[in-house]
This record gives sequence, structure tokens and C-alpha cells, in this order.
Amino acid sequence: MTPDLMEQGAQRLRARQEAQEVQANTESGGRAASFGRISTGEVDVTHGRILYLEDVSVSFDGFKAINNLSLDIAPGELRCIIGPNGAGKTTMMDIITGKTRPDSGTVFFGSTINLLRHTEAQIAQLGIGRKFQKPTVFEHLTVFENLELALRTQPNDRQVWPSMRFKLNSAQSDRLAEVLVTIHLADSVRRLAGNLSHGQKQWLEIGMLLMQDPKLLLLDEPVAGMTDEETARTAELFLSLKGKHSLMVVEHDMSFIDTISDIVTVLCDGSVLAQGTLDQVQNNERVIEVYLGR
Ligand SMILES: Nc1ncnc2c1ncn2[C@@H]1O[C@H](COP(=O)(O)OP(=O)(O)OP(=O)(O)O)[C@@H](O)[C@H]1O
Ligand SMILES: [Mg+2]
Repeated sequence: MTPDLMEQGAQRLRARQEAQEVQANTESGGRAASFGRISTGEVDVTHGRILYLEDVSVSFDGFKAINNLSLDIAPGELRCIIGPNGAGKTTMMDIITGKTRPDSGTVFFGSTINLLRHTEAQIAQLGIGRKFQKPTVFEHLTVFENLELALRTQPNDRQVWPSMRFKLNSAQSDRLAEVLVTIHLADSVRRLAGNLSHGQKQWLEIGMLLMQDPKLLLLDEPVAGMTDEETARTAELFLSLKGKHSLMVVEHDMSFIDTISDIVTVLCDGSVLAQGTLDQVQNNERVIEVYLGR
């Protein structure tokens, strides 16, 4: 085993141990007692929520970018988030992933993992994958190599290039083959990532996240810059992920939202302005005012 693999293993173990400590310290004594039934690293969704934010606020130089934000997401749900520029959508993802610490509030992964007690790297290891708007694949590597690499490095640590080759075991090979089909790149395994279209690079990056089998995926403006056909295929892809993973998708493209959405949450000025089906929120007077009246 290479030193970096050992270090990754140690990091994962530390993240799990910390998760266990949080679980053991929970106010609900019953939950701590039932911990033995939950395998380590699993997220407790017995209360029907994989992600839970309550009264979260953060200010930047006195400006409240997130303002008493409360929101929760059910396991397997595909939640769409819309809202005007500057509403706080990306900042909310920064808070969930540990990139930004809120000034106040509660952020839980499942009912027992307090995300505010974890670092960005630990949060990724706990099973929250994040896709930024710009694709960040390795252009000089093939599609296959990018996916293989995703197994060896943490999503937030991609600059580290492991020095030794490692061989996929059969479960990992199966997973890679499955992911290739899911992201519509099975015919492009040997192509250099740098030669893919913008949309294909986005899919490859989603594939890299899927290699780690995340429980929750956060996707910030995934179809920005895509052709109509790529957007349609991305909608198919997300619908195929729903149920197996929980997804939070931020987008401005309303026809894309219309295709994939069940519940849509409208953020404005750092808190939830409205929530419901796309039809319901689009007919909400306050939402109309925010989008058209400014
Ligand atoms: N690190 C930061 N320092 C200062 N201000 C910030 C920081 N991050 C975000 N902001 C501000 O917080 C507000 C919310 O920004 P955010 O990027 O979350 O909006 P958004 O909803 O993602 O917008 P968009 O749709 O344009 O991506 C904006 O006014 C932004 O300028
Ligand atoms: Mg944003």
C-alpha cells in the first residue's frame, strides 16, 4: 500500500471516529444506544432527512449573505434550488461542504452528524460530493484514468497525483464500468479528457464524484454553457441518479428545472422565499416580484 493510500485510509478512519463521537454525544440517548446497528460511516436517515439546516446565518463584512436559512432534504430526493443572482445559493453549498463556517445555526447530515464539527475534507469523506460550475477534470488524462484517479484521491484534494500505479479490484472495475454508462461516456474511455466537449467534461466530473458513491451530491449550475442536447442528456442523468443518491441542484435554466424537479426551493436574500412544485413557485406573487420586479 502506498503512503498516500495509507494516509487516505487514516483520514477516513478519523472522519468515521469523529462521526461516531458526535453520534455518541447526541442529546437523544436512544439514538446513541442504537448506534451498534448502524455500520460506521452510514448516515442515519430514520427521521426522513439526509440534510437539515436550521436558522443558518453568515455575514461577510456586515452583509448577511445567508439569513436564518432553514431547509431539509429527504433521502433520495432531487431538490432544485433557484433564486436570483446573489441569493446565497453557492454560499449555502459552501456552508454544507465546510468551505464557509456559518456565524450561527445548525447543519446536520442525517440526524446525527453535525457537519459544523467537520472539516471540508472530512465532509467529502462522509459522503457529500460537490460539483462546482467549472469542470475540473485532468485534461491530459483519459476518461478512464480520470475515473480511476477519483478512487485514489479525495474530491477536494485532486492536485495530489499518487506516485504509484494501483490496480482496481473487481468491485472497483465494475463500479467504473457502471459509472461510464451512467455518464454517457462508455464509448470514450480512451479519449483524453481535454478533447471532450464542455458537456462531456461536466459528465466526467460528475462521474468522478460518483466513483466515490456519495450519499448527497451538490451541483452548482451543472448545465451552464451546455448545448440543448447536452442539457437534455444531463436531465436524464440526474433523473437516473435520483433515489440512489440525494441531490441538490442549483440552476437558472428553468426548462431544465421543469424537466427534473419535484420540489423547488426559491432562495432570496439568504433565506427561503417559497417552496413547492415549479408551477406553484412560479405563480407565487413574492417570487414573481423578485424575478420580474427588480
Ligand atoms: N467570500 C465572500 N466574501 C464576501 N461576500 C461574499 C462571499 N461569498 C459570497 N458573498 C456575497 O454573498 C452574496 C451571495 O452570493 P452567492 O454567490 O452565494 O449567490 P448565488 O445565489 O450563488 O448567486 P449566483 O446565482 O449569481 O451564482 C453575494 O452578494 C456575494 O457577493
Ligand atoms: Mg452561485
